[in-house]
Amino acid sequence: MTPPSLELAAERPRWDDYELTLLESEPLGPHRRLRLAAAGLAGRFAPGQFLNLSVPGHLLRRPLAVADQGSGWLELFVTPFGPGTRKLVGLTPGVRLRALGPLGNGFAEPAGDVALVSAGAGVAALLMLAERARAGGGSVYVFHGAPGAEDAELVAASYEARGFAVSYYSEDGSHGRRGLPTEGLRELLAAGAAVSVYSVGPYALMRAAARLAIEYGRPGYVSLDVHMACGVGACLSCAVMTRQGQKRACVDGPVFEAREVVW
Ligand SMILES: Cc1cc2nc3c(=O)[nH]c(=O)nc-3n(C[C@H](O)[C@H](O)[C@H](O)COP(=O)(O)OP(=O)(O)OC[C@H]3O[C@@H](n4cnc5c(N)ncnc54)[C@H](O)[C@@H]3O)c2cc1C
Ligand code: FES
Repeated sequence: MTPPSLELAAERPRWDDYELTLLESEPLGPHRRLRLAAAGLAGRFAPGQFLNLSVPGHLLRRPLAVADQGSGWLELFVTPFGPGTRKLVGLTPGVRLRALGPLGNGFAEPAGDVALVSAGAGVAALLMLAERARAGGGSVYVFHGAPGAEDAELVAASYEARGFAVSYYSEDGSHGRRGLPTEGLRELLAAGAAVSVYSVGPYALMRAAARLAIEYGRPGYVSLDVHMACGVGACLSCAVMTRQGQKRACVDGPVFEAREVVW
C-alpha cells in the first residue's frame, strides 16, 4: 500500500494561533509603537499581511498590520480608535496576548518605482513594502497626510528611521506642505513617473489615490480597513464589494487592486 504523502503532512499551516509578550510600548504623538516577542510567528509576514490580536477583556480580536519583524519579535503601530485599540495602547510590557497570523494576501512583490500614500497608522502596512521596493532597486516616493503635525513622530519612527524621505502634507499647514498627500501624488504622476501606487489609510484617501492611479494608467493597490471578527474567512463580517462580486477582506484581501474595488 502507498504510504500517505509525507510532504503534505509536513506542510506548515498558513496561519496559527501564537502567544505573544509585549516587550515595549512607545508613544509617538497620538499613536503607539508596540514591540512584541513572537517566537514562531515573527519573520513569517509578507508586506501587507496582518495578525488578529487578542485584547484583554474583549471577545473579538483586532486586525493589525505588521510593520516590521526580526528574530523572534515584531512591531506594530497602533492608533487608539475605539475600546479595543485604546486598551491595547494602554498595556504595559510583560502582558501576554494571543495572535492569529500571518493573515491576508499581502502585497505582490513590487517591481520598479513605487509611490506610497498613507495617513495615520497606515504606514504600518507599507513599511516592509517600501523596504522590498528599495531592495529591488526601485525609487520609493512617500506622501503622508494628517490634519496637522500629529503624525510627525510616527513618520520619524517608521519611514524616516529606515532612511525614506517623506513628503508630509498637513491640512492646516503646521508641518510639511499645506494640503493633501494626493496632491503630491498627482504632481508625481503628472510628471510622468512610472510608479505603482499603494495607499493605506482612511477610505477617502485610498479612494482618491486609487482614482489617480486609474486616471494616469498606473497600477494601484489599497489595503482595506474593514471590521473583522474571525480574520480567517469563516464569519463573512468583512465582506467588501468588488467588480467580481463580494469578497472577504481577511482572506481575499486586505490588499485589492484599485480597479477591483467598487468605490
Ligand atoms: C487588515 C487591517 C490592518 C489594520 N492595521 C492597523 C494598524 O496597523 N494600526 C492600527 O491602529 N489600526 C489598524 N487597523 C484598524 C484596526 O483594526 C481598528 O482600528 C480596530 O479593529 C478598531 O477596534 P476598536 O475596538 O478600537 O474600535 P471599534 O471599531 O469601535 O470597535 C468597536 C466595536 O466593534 C466590534 N466589532 C469589531 N469587528 C466587528 C465585526 N466584524 N462585527 C461586529 N462587531 C465588530 C468590536 O467588538 C468593538 O466592540 C487595521 C485594520 C485592518 C482590517
Ligand atoms: S473576518 Fe471573518 S470572514 Fe473575514
